[in-house]
Parts: sequence; C-alpha cells; structure tokens
Amino acid sequence: MSLIEFKDVTFVHQNGVTALKGVSLSVERDELVGIVGENGAGKTTLVKHINGLLKPTSGSVTVDGKNTRDVSTAALARNVGIAFQNANQQLFSDSVENEITYALKNFGFDPGLIQKRLDWALGFFGLEEYRKSSPLILSGGEKKRLTLASILAWDPDVVVLDEPTVGQDAIQKEKLAEIIKLLHSAGKTIITVSHDVEFLWTLQPRLLVMKQGSVVGDGPCATVMKDRMLLEGARVSQPQLVQLYDALNVRPDQPFRDVSEARAWIERGTS
Ligand SMILES: Nc1ncnc2c1ncn2[C@@H]1O[C@H](COP(=O)(O)OP(=O)(O)O)[C@@H](O)[C@H]1O
Ligand SMILES: [Mg+2]
Repeated sequence: MSLIEFKDVTFVHQNGVTALKGVSLSVERDELVGIVGENGAGKTTLVKHINGLLKPTSGSVTVDGKNTRDVSTAALARNVGIAFQNANQQLFSDSVENEITYALKNFGFDPGLIQKRLDWALGFFGLEEYRKSSPLILSGGEKKRLTLASILAWDPDVVVLDEPTVGQDAIQKEKLAEIIKLLHSAGKTIITVSHDVEFLWTLQPRLLVMKQGSVVGDGPCATVMKDRMLLEGARVSQPQLVQLYDALNVRPDQPFRDVSEARAWIERGTS
C-alpha cells in the first residue's frame, strides 16, 4: 500500500469554488515529489488534504493506511509536517524559540532533546539572533524559514513545503535545496509545492503538474519539463537549462542539472 493515496478526490471550498476535481494519485514512502502549476491550480488545497486540515468533499485520502476522516489532525501532524505558503497563518508564539519548541513539547520530547533540536534549527536556518524576538518582527523570508525550522525540529516522516522559496535569497534557496536532498536521502517523503521551476529543476523530483484542480502531468522532472505543450497548457514556464538544451538542439541522455554540467558539455562540443 502506498504511503499517501488520493482516490477520486473532489474538494469544494465554502464559497462554492471547486478546487480539486477527481484527483487520484499515490505517493510512496521515500519519494521526492514536486508540484507545479499556476496560481489557483489547487496545489495548496491538495497538500492541506495530506494532514487532514481539509477533508475531501467526495473521494478519500489515506495516509499510512488511515483515512484522514477517521484520524485527528493532531495525530496526523506527528507524521506529516506542512510548512504553509503563508507563514503568518502558522506562527503564533511570542518568541522564535517558543515557536520552534511548541510542537516538540506537545509531542512529549524530552527537555535535553528539545534543547538540541532548538539549537540545530536556529543555527541551520540563520535565526539564532532572533531567538528571543517575536516572530512578528521577522521579514517574510525569515518567517518562512521559521516555519520550516519548527517542522523539521520534530522530524516528521512526511515533509510538505508549500512555496518554500518565496522571499528567500539565492543562498537560502541553495541551503533549502540541500536540506531537501539531505532529508530525502535520510528516508523522508518530501513534497515541495512551488511555482519556482528553477528550484524544482535542481531537486529533480517526480513532478506533478496541476491545472484547474486536476493533475495533468506526472513523471520524472526531466521528462515533464521537456514537455512544452503540457507546460504551456498549464501555464508553467520551462527551466532555463531546459530552454538552453532545446536551443542547442542536443539530446544527451541526461539533461543538464546545473550550469557546470551545461558548461562542460558546451566546452566538449566546441573544442
Ligand atoms: N479558503 C478558501 N476559500 C475559498 N476559495 C479558496 C480558498 N482557498 C483557495 N480557494 C480557491 O481554490 C482554488 C485553488 O486555490 P489554491 O489551492 O490556493 O491554489 P494554488 O495553491 O495552486 O495557488 C482557487 O480558485 C482559489 O481561489
Ligand atoms: Mg498555493
């Protein structure tokens, strides 16, 4: 059985907007998944079903064999950590430190471990100097990092990142890509929602493409990103390296993952 299973899931928001239309998909344990799609395609609505924050209007979602209708959101949260798109909806503590330790205390971690996780999270996400500050004074990018820090601190099996690169500079994005790869190699299931195709390209995930509440593409990142018709239909742009690769009219077995690979190929070809 797959770790996450959506069966014919339709979701209608209270205002009558149908945000998911008959979505069926499964995610296996240890998978690295990216979800791309234009604004309003239903990406956030979809991931909110994974921790039971939203329940399907029809159809079903199961996580680790349990139907999200039958399990409390609190119980699901231990296994599924979601860093929301809008950090302001997530942050509620009076200090950065308390924000990170809140869930750890709730889940009953012992004090020594809480301290260790807190120090790691503050250091890794560059939030040390704000330890005692209110989350409200942080910049948008810092708030975003704080939501990630609080989730990774409790080490859930499934990590969902909704638009994690918004407000992050290039260095922070590299760090983020690094930690996603690290978590993935440590056996986590990671789902990254992003309209940032360059960021997703560096991760090379299994990529889902969403359009108007449906999943219209699903496959290895390199395959999906080469499908110009599919991307245009979903109003998603192609990563620059894929455009370069097309413009050069090359068909190497492995697409360029980064600039250095592209450069090596070009140098080989022109020498
Ligand atoms: N809380 C809400 N109430 C009503 N409609 C919503 C709500 N959240 C999202 N929607 C609508 O559902 C659709 C999908 O939104 P969303 O899942 O946020 O898309 P994405 O994350 O891909 O931008 C959009 O039409 C959006 O306007
Ligand atoms: Mg969204």
